[in-house]
Amino acid sequence: MALLIGSNRINIAVFISGTGSNLKSLIKFSKLKKSPIMIKMIISNNYKAKGLQYANIYKIKKKVFDFKNTLSEKKVIYELKKNNINLICLAGFMKILSKSFIKNFKGKILNIHPSLLPKYKGLNTHERAIKNKDKYSGCTVHFVNSRLDSGKIIIQKKVKINKFDTPKSLAKRILIQEHKLYPAAIMKVLSL
Ligand code: GAR
Repeated sequence: MALLIGSNRINIAVFISGTGSNLKSLIKFSKLKKSPIMIKMIISNNYKAKGLQYANIYKIKKKVFDFKNTLSEKKVIYELKKNNINLICLAGFMKILSKSFIKNFKGKILNIHPSLLPKYKGLNTHERAIKNKDKYSGCTVHFVNSRLDSGKIIIQKKVKINKFDTPKSLAKRILIQEHKLYPAAIMKVLSL
């Protein structure tokens, strides 16, 4: 990705709606000496998102927008441009971005999804994988396009589904893999 040429680190905005454990793993990745990224801001649609605490802990700028209409999204775009954001990482962000928003950052929005896409787009991925008696589930990092969970796949990690797995136990094991997968996906995108 041409993003890295001539600059030291690329500026990332992480979008979250909830716990923010993927955000935390990305922050840790950004703190490595040779990390290619800097997390410049955390954006949420939910002012109660637990993950917003990391903004205070790690002194990262945070902003909350409701994302309910074009005006709200325009404000987000303004903030992202003002802060020279090169790459947006959706990490447990549960709002669907508009086509026009995505167009503004074409090829520069990544998402992590808790299934082996193209299987199980949308919600309740673990329930569906268990119900269908799948042997494996996993997680995927992909580029975001205007169709839900359908952009080009960057990287995936398989996780075995055990006999006694519940959606909760499976989610927990997949989440551990997500934390490794997102940094790996960023490295891959930057070397493209
Ligand atoms: C993660 O499992 C992520 O893959 C999923 O939400 C969780 C957020 O956890 N994302 C989606 O379902 C998006 N459709 P986190 O807030 O602890 O990172």
